[in-house]
Parts: sequence; structure tokens; C-alpha cells
Amino acid sequence: MIFLSQRAPIGIFDSGVGGLSVARDIRKLLPLEDILYYADSAHCPYGDKDPQTIQQREKKIGEFLVAQGAKLIVVACNTATSTGLEDLRSLLNVPVIGMEPGVKPAVAATRNGKIGVLATNVTIAGDRFAALIKRYAENTQVITQPCPGLVELIEQGKLHAPETKGKLWNFLQPILERGADTIVLGCTHYPFLRPILGELVGPEIAIIDTGQAVARQVSKILNENGLLITDGPLGTEQFYTSGNQANVQEVIQSLWLNNNISVKTLPL
Ligand code: DGL
Repeated sequence: MIFLSQRAPIGIFDSGVGGLSVARDIRKLLPLEDILYYADSAHCPYGDKDPQTIQQREKKIGEFLVAQGAKLIVVACNTATSTGLEDLRSLLNVPVIGMEPGVKPAVAATRNGKIGVLATNVTIAGDRFAALIKRYAENTQVITQPCPGLVELIEQGKLHAPETKGKLWNFLQPILERGADTIVLGCTHYPFLRPILGELVGPEIAIIDTGQAVARQVSKILNENGLLITDGPLGTEQFYTSGNQANVQEVIQSLWLNNNISVKTLPL
């Protein structure tokens, strides 16, 4: 029984492929764990939806992942964490881990006391973000920047397209003009833009994302609950999407750097 629950997968979800940036950090840290990933591509982006709609999606996906036997759920989405983490925790009877923009590490990293935060409108407007700023950044200048349209380009796999670079530059410019030396990637899609981001801002600007911290938290919680796999074969990955099978599979293959991945369509 204990062996069975230990072998159960980690369930991870996002509005689309963004959560793969977290899943890959989990995969790196925990190579023996099985991963069950749900990309809610038919409802992406979450960042411009009303909180109730996002909460309903989270509930459906969380219940699906638990029904599939997931032993722990990772809300690999800052937006969904902002709107529904507590509700999901009280609904599901497995540990639920969320994520929030890396304001705390950014405050530790900044040399001039000015940080920029790229995130969705919903995340920036949420109470959770306000509490985060109050808790860690009262003496830091925080420049927030919503990035409408960026997630859609990443969902299409356009990580290096001039269109993506142009849009990203428009979002970065106001932050850089105001002198921030540290930029927080407060949406799990954005780490996939790190290569072009590095080109645009140069080496002097620190870039923070929280994927590795979430992976460490997953490891800690599994360990505390006796659910961490410590020996056996390498873990596997299973991918589901509510969106177009062929399109999502193509993008997941390129982001996961594995052409053998197959993605199943499952509208919830
Ligand atoms: N990847 C998500 C996040 O971390 C949401 C992006 C979206 O769907 O708008 O916020």
C-alpha cells in the first residue's frame, strides 16, 4: 500500500505549456518520480480571465489529477495559485503546492533596491501579490508589468520570433528605464524566454524564477509524507491537454526536448 502510494505520480498543471518550466526543474531534482501533466490549453490564457472561471478550471483539473492517482499536486501557475490555492487545498486530500512570483529572492538579489516583476494581470491584481509585497518588499521599489499577449506566443512555440522579442522588449523597457537591476519572472511561461531575455537585458540584470524552489518544496513535502521515491527505475511523464492534440504535442515536444512524447486530448 505504502509502496503503491509512493509510486503514484506527481500531478502538475498550468493554463498551458508554461508549467513545463516547473516540471523540468522537478524532473531534474527528482528523476525517479512519475509526472502527470495537464495543459489547460483550451482555456489559455488564464491571465485575462475572471478569478471564478480560473477557480472552476483548477477544481476540475485538480480532481482529475487526484482521480488519476496523483500523490501531490503542483499548481505550476502563478495566476491559478493567486486565485485558487486555498480552495484547492481544502478540496483535495493530497498535498497541494502553489507558486508565487520570486519577490523574496529578488529583494535579496537587488543591489539598488529596484525590482521589476513580469506577471499576468490577474496575478498582479491579486491579494496574494499585495501580501507578498507587504511581507518582503516594503523597502524595495517594485515595478510591476503585466504582459498581455506573451503567453499566447509561447503557447505557439514562438520562443525566438521577432514578434516575441518585440513584445517582450516593450514590457521590459519601462522597467529598465526606471532602473531595476533585478527582474522576476512571475509567470511560469516566461522562463522559456530566458535566451531572448538575456539578449535584451544583458548580463548586468539578475533574472529570477522560482521553478527550482518549487521543485525543492515538492521534494521536501514528499519526503515528510513518506512519499518520496528513493530507488527504482527512472520516472516517466504523461501529458494531457484540453486543447488541440497535434499543436500542443508539437510544442510540448520542443519544450521538453523530446520528440517521442505523445500528448492525449482530454477536455474536462
Ligand atoms: N503560466 C501562468 C502563470 O504562471 C498563466 C499564464 C496565463 O495563462 O495567462 O501565471
